[in-house]
Amino acid sequence: MPLHRVSHLTMGVPDVASTSAYYTDFGLGPGADGKFSTRDGGEQLKIVPAPRRQLRELGLAADDEDDLARMAAALRELGAPVDLDGDTLLSREPVAGFTVRARVLPRLEQEPTPATPYNGPGRQERSGRAPGVTRTAPVRPRRLGHVVVGTVDLSATMRFFIDGLGFRVSDYIGDKGAFMRCSTDHHNFLAMAAPVNYLHHTSWQVDDIDDVGRGAQAMLQGNPERHVWGLGRHHAGSNFFWYLKDPAGNFSEYFSDMDCIPEDGVWEPEVLEGARGLFNWGPPPPPSFLEPEDLAGLMTGTHSNG
Ligand SMILES: [Fe+2]
Repeated sequence: MPLHRVSHLTMGVPDVASTSAYYTDFGLGPGADGKFSTRDGGEQLKIVPAPRRQLRELGLAADDEDDLARMAAALRELGAPVDLDGDTLLSREPVAGFTVRARVLPRLEQEPTPATPYNGPGRQERSGRAPGVTRTAPVRPRRLGHVVVGTVDLSATMRFFIDGLGFRVSDYIGDKGAFMRCSTDHHNFLAMAAPVNYLHHTSWQVDDIDDVGRGAQAMLQGNPERHVWGLGRHHAGSNFFWYLKDPAGNFSEYFSDMDCIPEDGVWEPEVLEGARGLFNWGPPPPPSFLEPEDLAGLMTGTHSNG
């Protein structure tokens, strides 16, 4: 695979101040120029002003300039714009029009999270209180995991990511979406058929299920309107999830324990039908998860983000 991870994203929102405050609460470290950092991934989010909420740029990390050159050739073959300058390649997704910036960057080395002992029937691995209930430090995501968009032309978006950028398909949601990866994560990008192009959610890795729960709980304290969907476990990727909503209407997800697919590993994509495409267990997803409340406004361009 020419790439090894998603490095960052830039989102455009009408009100930068309130959205920035939200992602600070979410546990990202605010820095200069609207940039936010994770513990392991460094600066991975940039928030800029825009008339309506949208994905402006997706950052990808490649091993070397040869990888970028191969990617440039594949993108040109597709008729996509290519600006290759040394260790940086710029292109543009053909449907929503966001910039893709692929750069030569080091692979991410993460300090392993200590194994959490779990007791079970006939298996007493822990005595005393569970570490998950004695933690008090605020949850801070380790890294950006994936970005999800709605697209009015699913096949064109998929072609760009698969044939152009070199992503691989991990699973399909019927004929309505595709989980794609450019790292050992089950998915780093998910495109879903939609009546308008929009940013559905960004997803941020935390240490374990306790931090998924602790992070969401802290976000909801005093702000119950931020709740979208959770706690549950996805089927595609197997990760635990909890989705929250930022003031612009973008969802942000805490996740842990996602399936890993080694680069040379064997993985058979499945076509997931019905609820399986969405989740394995958890509360039923609210209708606004698949059809965010501002979709109609985004389509007509009259959305005001009130
Ligand atoms: Fe997700």
